[in-house]
Amino acid sequence: MKLLLTGVTGQLGTAVAGLAPQRGVRVVPLVRPARPGQVPFERAFPSLAADRVTGDVRRPLWGLEDAVLDELADSVDAVVNLAGDTNWAGSGRDLYAVNVLGARNGHDLTRELQRRSGRRIVYAYASSIFVAGGTLGRIAEAPLAPDRHRTAYEHSKWLAERELERRHTPGEPDVLIARIAALLGDSATGATRRRNSLYLLAERWDELPGRVLPAMRGAKVDVLPRDVAAGTLLDAVAGLHRGGPRPEPVFAHVSAGERAPGIRGLLEVARALSPVTFGKWLRVVPASAEQVLWLSAHAERVLPLSQAWRNSLTGLRYIGLDRVMERGRLAELVDGPLPEPSTEKLARLLFDIPEPPRPLAPADSGLSRFLA
Ligand SMILES: NC(=O)c1ccc[n+]([C@@H]2O[C@H](COP(=O)([O-])OP(=O)(O)OC[C@H]3O[C@@H](n4cnc5c(N)ncnc54)[C@H](OP(=O)(O)O)[C@@H]3O)[C@@H](O)[C@H]2O)c1
Repeated sequence: MKLLLTGVTGQLGTAVAGLAPQRGVRVVPLVRPARPGQVPFERAFPSLAADRVTGDVRRPLWGLEDAVLDELADSVDAVVNLAGDTNWAGSGRDLYAVNVLGARNGHDLTRELQRRSGRRIVYAYASSIFVAGGTLGRIAEAPLAPDRHRTAYEHSKWLAERELERRHTPGEPDVLIARIAALLGDSATGATRRRNSLYLLAERWDELPGRVLPAMRGAKVDVLPRDVAAGTLLDAVAGLHRGGPRPEPVFAHVSAGERAPGIRGLLEVARALSPVTFGKWLRVVPASAEQVLWLSAHAERVLPLSQAWRNSLTGLRYIGLDRVMERGRLAELVDGPLPEPSTEKLARLLFDIPEPPRPLAPADSGLSRFLA
């Protein structure tokens, strides 16, 4: 498969680009013309530099020129849109431009490429499991109803999903709406491009007011290492491309689903792995969904909070609510096992707890065979 890929410099895109060669997937990265203050693309991704096209998802047809469109139409099998404004405390206007208009422009672009080539080209959009807003219980891989609890970021991702549903008609490109779980760093190296709010839990460990963390009794942390999410996403895109035409957009939860650990279990495993990491322990206090949601969305009304603290508090709802992302649709698309991250691996990634050193064989050759 050959993909036109946006967001390649981001947390998820970096992992997709890293895995692609092993999977026999070729990538054409779409990169913004100006990225002030960031490492130049050619330096960060030398192996992709030659294939790069320049564009911006906020522009119609992502700002691609006619000749580039012809070239892409002849070669790509899927357009995968991982570009996003992921600032949870960002302005509604910016969130709308990148997340909603970007999704819609990507659909128009895929339709145009399909029209020019006469071949089937699929469109995958990275949404988020957090479009669930304040919904509890089992979350279906299906369109979600309006919800007053969504943050501006969640609302923008939900609007993007609505927009893609609305635009989809038979004969148009098949659409995958991949709702991605929260991402941690690479499962092998721990490398992470950004430290989202889950990491802020680790970073603010000693600053949490009152040493308490409010969470529902059955609260789960649906989170994946970024390479695991990237591999599953590539499998899902391939599955959609392999299958027959779909009358509706396909929703799939690229997540740990029913395998996601509980917040209490995750913290206890972290403490068991490295007691010295946690100077002071904190208490996970049972709270109602309303309390968790209110605190995560509105505490800034009564407390003067920096943007970093606002992002941290938003993250409370991602570790404090009792819900499970269903994965039946994902299982239909993916040819193999679904992600099952171990709680130990997640705890190590989240709190930067190194893997234990491998035991060395002792000099006594009689004993060493037991340690192989
Ligand atoms: N990370 C998570 O925990 C998580 C969880 C659920 C869902 N998601 C979703 O997954 C997707 C990828 O997330 P991520 O964490 O990888 O994001 P990220 O690290 O914030 O990276 C965002 C990417 O989007 C690109 N981008 C931003 N605005 C653009 C524009 N106008 N035109 C073209 N490219 C643009 C950025 O390029 P520059 O290098 O030019 O800035 C960057 O490559 C997003 O849609 C996000 O909502 C992420």
